[in-house]
Amino acid sequence: MEAIQHFESNKENYLSELLELLKIPSVSADSKFAGDVRKAAEYIKEKFEAAGVDKVELVETPGHPIVYAEKIIDPSYPTVLVYGHYDVQPADPYELWDSPPFEPVIKNDRIYARGACDDKGQMYMHIKAFESLMKTNSLTCNAKFMIEGEEEVGSSHLETFVKENREMLASDVILISDTSIISNDTPSICVGLRGLSYVEVEVTGPNRDLHSGVYGGAVANPINVLSKMIASLQDENGHITIPGFYDKVEVLSDEQRAEMAKAPFDLEEFKNDLDIAAEQGEAGFSTMERTGIRPTLDVNGIWGGYIGEGAKTVLPSKAHAKISMRLVPHQDSDEITEMFVNHFKSIAPKSVKVTVKPHHGGEAAVVSTESAAYQAASRAFEEAWGKTPIPTRDGGSIPIVALFQKELKVDPILMGFGLDSDAIHSPNESYGLFNYYKGIETILHFYRFFSELER
Ligand code: BES
Ligand code: MN
Ligand code: MN
Repeated sequence: MEAIQHFESNKENYLSELLELLKIPSVSADSKFAGDVRKAAEYIKEKFEAAGVDKVELVETPGHPIVYAEKIIDPSYPTVLVYGHYDVQPADPYELWDSPPFEPVIKNDRIYARGACDDKGQMYMHIKAFESLMKTNSLTCNAKFMIEGEEEVGSSHLETFVKENREMLASDVILISDTSIISNDTPSICVGLRGLSYVEVEVTGPNRDLHSGVYGGAVANPINVLSKMIASLQDENGHITIPGFYDKVEVLSDEQRAEMAKAPFDLEEFKNDLDIAAEQGEAGFSTMERTGIRPTLDVNGIWGGYIGEGAKTVLPSKAHAKISMRLVPHQDSDEITEMFVNHFKSIAPKSVKVTVKPHHGGEAAVVSTESAAYQAASRAFEEAWGKTPIPTRDGGSIPIVALFQKELKVDPILMGFGLDSDAIHSPNESYGLFNYYKGIETILHFYRFFSELER
């Protein structure tokens, strides 16, 4: 394939361009980086121009811009819509990085930088695959690209963009590389993502911080109360105690669970990797099921009182926590949020006041393995990796995927190339050069197989 040769002889450039992109700290959550987020969008726009699109624009939103680009070869050809995101999670805590997060370095054949895998590295593979096809006149599909800058903060403006531009975004498949594979020896295609409900709670006790000796014992301590309330949200079997929480949870048949269990998983390796003596989770489910098909509740942050040096004797006025619930098919994130709010308020003792602020949410998604697009993706992996990919359900969330299904009526293909060990969202995030290059190759095969199957 000519495009593969072209890509092989341009590997160095394709890498150095990614490294340039990784130098731009496009942290969507933190407004002090807003200028850098835009710079990243402009950089991508330039690269689309160089790759040979018909049109590319920065679509302005009330938040960060969306980069939209397209190349229409022939309206009778099948159309691939690629989605990705150029924003990244905050790099904090910086002191835990071995090298600065926005000064990418290559060590042991890996790129170390915030966004190296999630999702700049994976998104950029698509621009370069497209470029290889363009430069060799071998693009056999129309290509549309929608690269957003707000995935890590909930994609709220992309939602509006999608609803208002259904026609422009019409396609036969939506191709997304923002998930992971089991390992480089066992490639897989993600066919399920969890949904999300995210809330922030505030518990207020007395109207001011108090001397913990003068008042302690007689006034509710909001941190003690919050801890107890949080602890009560799960029982000893790891079940979530919010009434109605499990009512709509998708129940998998024994056959489906047996099918899932065929994917290789080594519990000892899992524990060793995380340096934990034991795993834990909902009774009656395997580790893979706990992350793939079961809902969860986790505290993501908790604060209050005195956390400075030394000891200050204080009974604080307020305590806070950020709590996420990962959801599974059929659970509705708004409904779950409402259940949480009602339940959390109902379990608060009279001695405190509770407020709950909902953050962004999103629905779970399941992708069919029966479609032509899935077949093309599967064959693309076979060609590039020499193995048939295993369908897996990932525990993470990409809320816009369910929205694509609903609004555009197109099933996305989650052809990600990350590994769990890439440490996305963590210090020292990295992405293997092997995966970056193999990914480009796999995408090139996908275009070919997809156009053959669709025509
Ligand atoms: N790319 C991830 C999601 C992901 C990672 C899916 C690994 C499957 C495997 C995405 O960028 C992400 O981090 N999503 C957030 C949700 C978002 C609403 C902030 C998440 O899952 O926490
Ligand atoms: Mn991502
Ligand atoms: Mn992410």
